[in-house]
Amino acid sequence: MRCGPPKTGETYSTDPAKREAGDPTGFTRAAAADIVATMAILKIARMGHPVLRRVAAPVADPTAPRIKVLVADMVETLDDIGGAGLAAPQVHVSERVVVFKVPAERTTGRPLDTPMELVTIINPVIEAVGNDREIGWEGCLSVPGLRGAVPRFARIRYRGVTPEGAAIDREVEGFHARVVQHECDHLDGVLYLQRMTDHRLLAFVEEWQRYPIDLAAAVTEAAE
Ligand code: NI
Repeated sequence: MRCGPPKTGETYSTDPAKREAGDPTGFTRAAAADIVATMAILKIARMGHPVLRRVAAPVADPTAPRIKVLVADMVETLDDIGGAGLAAPQVHVSERVVVFKVPAERTTGRPLDTPMELVTIINPVIEAVGNDREIGWEGCLSVPGLRGAVPRFARIRYRGVTPEGAAIDREVEGFHARVVQHECDHLDGVLYLQRMTDHRLLAFVEEWQRYPIDLAAAVTEAAE
């Protein structure tokens, strides 16, 4: 059996007869990943790229193999860069797909601020639960080197579908709710900077670490 990537000009098909005959062009891309390691670290779109201002399209078939490939590549990209989450428009794909993590060390300890290893949501929908908002620090892979304090709904319900076609329906709060709101904003062409209400609370990471801002004090002062 021949193994290896297709030669230039050959394209993959899903023809089982070709697979049986050992023709490498008979592999789907997902199956070919086993032999040609097609997973990829994707280029991140940075603020100013029009894909970040566009409203992303709904995914017609969340279980399609191409979505699994996209999600695998997004996860690999996220692991490489080390962020909390990534939305498909940030890798130049204008479709409604987000991946994110909720690390235990960043949660508030509140009951619905559930830590998560890795969540993938296709076609997510968010609704606020109550009107409480809270301010917290955010950064974004598309706006490298900055941190800003952003008001978000304290508690939300989100729904969507996994790449396996399973329904997601969760009520969350705190950091978990913040990450979901940040990532889903990307699907509507919104960056966290647009959600900020006090741009004095925007800083370069280096200065932010060197001269910590007391957020509680800053918010109280702004309210007075
Ligand atoms: Ni972001």
